[in-house]
Amino acid sequence: IPGQTQHTFHMQRDCTHLSRGCGLHGKWMFSEIRAVFTRRFLLQNTALEIFMANRTSVMFNFPDQPTVKKVVHSLPCVGVGTSYGLPQARRISLATPRQLFKSSNMTQRWQRREISNFEYLMFLNTIAGRTFNDLNQYPVFPWVLTNYELEELDLTIPGNFRDLSKPIGALNPKRAVFYADRYESWDEETPPCHYTTHYSTAASTLHWLVRIEPFTTFFLNANGNKFDHPNRTFSGIARSWRHCQRDTADVKELIPEFYYLPEMFVNSNGYCLGDRDDGVPVCDVELPAWAKKPEDFVRINRMALESEFVSCQLHQWIDLIFGYKQRGPEAARALNVFHYLTYEGSVNLDSLASDPPLYEATEAQIQSVGQTPSQLLIEPHPPRSSAMHLSPLMYKDQMQQDVIMVLKFPSNSPVTHVAANTLPHLTLPAIVTITCSRLFAVNRWHNTVAPGYSLEQAHHLPIEMDSLIANNSGTNKRQITDLVDQSIQINTQCFVVTADNRFILVCGFWDKSFRVYSSDTGKLTQIVFGHWDVVTCLARSESYIGGDCYIVSGSRDATLLLWYWSGRHHIIGDNPNNTPRAVLTGHDYEVVCVSVCAELGIVISGAKEGPCLVHTITGDLLRALEGSDSCVLPRLISVSSEGHCIIYYDRGQFCNFSINGKLLAQMEINDSTRAILLSSDGQNLVTGGDNGVVEVWQACDFKQLYVYPGCDAGIRAMDLSHDQRTLITGMASGSIVAFNLDFNRWHFEHQNRY
Ligand SMILES: *[C@@H]1O[C@H](CO)[C@@H](O)[C@H](O)[C@H]1NC(C)=O
Ligand SMILES: *[C@@H]1O[C@H](CO)[C@@H](O)[C@H](O)[C@H]1NC(C)=O
Ligand SMILES: *[C@@H]1O[C@H](CO)[C@@H](O)[C@H](O)[C@H]1NC(C)=O
Ligand SMILES: *[C@@H]1O[C@H](CO)[C@@H](O)[C@H](O)[C@H]1NC(C)=O
Ligand SMILES: *[C@@H]1O[C@H](CO)[C@@H](O)[C@H](O)[C@H]1NC(C)=O
Ligand SMILES: *[C@@H]1O[C@H](CO)[C@@H](O)[C@H](O)[C@H]1NC(C)=O
Repeated sequence: IPGQTQHTFHMQRDCTHLSRGCGLHGKWMFSEIRAVFTRRFLLQNTALEIFMANRTSVMFNFPDQPTVKKVVHSLPCVGVGTSYGLPQARRISLATPRQLFKSSNMTQRWQRREISNFEYLMFLNTIAGRTFNDLNQYPVFPWVLTNYELEELDLTIPGNFRDLSKPIGALNPKRAVFYADRYESWDEETPPCHYTTHYSTAASTLHWLVRIEPFTTFFLNANGNKFDHPNRTFSGIARSWRHCQRDTADVKELIPEFYYLPEMFVNSNGYCLGDRDDGVPVCDVELPAWAKKPEDFVRINRMALESEFVSCQLHQWIDLIFGYKQRGPEAARALNVFHYLTYEGSVNLDSLASDPPLYEATEAQIQSVGQTPSQLLIEPHPPRSSAMHLSPLMYKDQMQQDVIMVLKFPSNSPVTHVAANTLPHLTLPAIVTITCSRLFAVNRWHNTVAPGYSLEQAHHLPIEMDSLIANNSGTNKRQITDLVDQSIQINTQCFVVTADNRFILVCGFWDKSFRVYSSDTGKLTQIVFGHWDVVTCLARSESYIGGDCYIVSGSRDATLLLWYWSGRHHIIGDNPNNTPRAVLTGHDYEVVCVSVCAELGIVISGAKEGPCLVHTITGDLLRALEGSDSCVLPRLISVSSEGHCIIYYDRGQFCNFSINGKLLAQMEINDSTRAILLSSDGQNLVTGGDNGVVEVWQACDFKQLYVYPGCDAGIRAMDLSHDQRTLITGMASGSIVAFNLDFNRWHFEHQNRY
């Protein structure tokens, strides 16, 4: 299972736990290393974690800190990668968590709502040393809801949300008194604390994840090959919440999986977890009444995490876990002091080396009491900017017109591809259109930047579509005249436009190549060979900084090739021989549709006669996605950054699959769909087809959210502006239409009660 949190494949983890003395060895290519973090292990700064291009990671523990430095200086100079806006330098890998926090601009990005609460918490965890490779320092996430009992959950009621300014142990006033008393009346020699247990320990991580491998095995290894007493096994979410509100020995917070991994609640391996005292066998985790299935729970819990109630208090929880209330007098005041051995710098194991029994006892103690993350800041964390403040338009202008603009091109050829690359950092935001006769145009605004579109506002303002000008007449007309295979049906998947609008990739040529054209000059810049038969479809991943991305080409030869597009060199292929990075096999028929998700390192492809396959970007075949009998001929695929996948099949059939291949929802519509799009959070699906009607659906259950008035021509292609406020459709009549979109409004109207 690719871990959905940026970096790791879960399976890689067993290495760290099997390694002691069993001669395990591994080999990693320097060229594949993307990020290097120095880490703590058992509170000592002696470890290193290395993240690879294929989303795996590995953690090493060394004898001492000088060795760690030496190793960092021998490794490639990649810093902590490119995601956090930090220079790729060795000094960054060696920087302390606090320095990393200070020099990165992720806090500003979170405040400005460019990244989600989930992403920001993952960032804080990662720089504070929390990792999926060490159960003792597993990433920690907050409980955010308090209602796990009722049939209905209303996310507009503050009372359903936890008070994030208090540690989990201080939420229940009665129990808080108990902890305060313990602290006041402390009479042991060690420093006083409120809690003798921790919010995150290896044992609590295994407790939550006991139903899935490799954690089941870790659990059994750690507990004499037995599951826990059924009373103590994780058996119900409401029960766990109650327990951590009442039991004086339970102050567990959550782990990130509660926000993305429904599989953790299902006993799919059928383990015998015993009977509780009331005679009920422990099997799947019992869900709150408001969640019908694990996927509902995860989706709603995640929605709660991203809600306004959490957004405006999350900085207070950050203060407790990573910030100024983590230690010292502020911690004492906030009822937030844990066993002294959980804190960084509390013990120097090296100095105990001469006393092996004490050394081992201390080591064992650190393992069992848990570890507090590295402290990232010693002053209050700034709050998130309010949504109102950032995008007043979102609330002001509720009754916007649906259609902003219609732009007719002189040629009547259907517009089969549109790319609305309107990112503010582009020197020239534009809408690139390509017609069925392979005439293309880069449509720009009258001014070089769209009016009202300063960098500051760019993320929050709708584009002024009225001032868009068509630019494909006269001398600006560009046509791809190279010979295309006659049997190829030209559709939106035959084209890819790079994120900077400067290049157009086209397939379908009789010579089995696909080709790169400059959108500026119309010149052919590269011909890419590699397939044995005509190339039938192309896709690209979202771009990294610099415009680098993966390109996947599918062919009539039933294979797919994965390539790297270098945004700097404007070229496909990253090696002298120009060979693909990976060959993806498994189909028996012509490949007709494909989608690639770089965050998770997966490619999903569909063949003309079925099925759909999930591959890794390194060429491993993971699984086939199986819909019902009426879903056999895949035509369009879209995959969200969370790994959920929407597939459109011939004759109006849609399916929603989880990354692990579970069919989550299905619908049939009475239209021949030509284009589908997902909102960036993966929650909304937009469809358009021959009927000329744009429809918006809730992706989890295909509930219809909105239908636009019908157009007088069929829809052939669609794209979303960067701010998700404008939808551009390419029409069969040779025009483009710009629609106002408002996922937030539909969200408020339809999604607050469960
Ligand atoms: C990722 O790459 C490393 C080497 O760089 C390799 O050992 C590992 O098997 C790869 N994992 C996957 C899942 O491709
Ligand atoms: C964050 O820093 C990176 C690199 O310095 C920069 O490219 C990016 O624009 C910055 N983002 C913000 C929101 O300041
Ligand atoms: C299990 O829980 C029940 C009540 O919930 C209690 O009576 C029983 O003693 C517990 N058993 C153990 C072994 O903790
Ligand atoms: C139209 O496109 C051509 C070539 O891409 C460019 O030189 C010209 O400036 C564009 N015209 C406008 C008004 O943007
Ligand atoms: C589907 O739509 C067509 C016209 O668009 C209509 O004639 C037909 O009856 C519809 N079928 C169903 C099952 O609604
Ligand atoms: C699919 O269904 C899941 C579970 O109900 C939901 O979380 C997800 O948003 C849906 N969306 C996509 C794009 O698959």
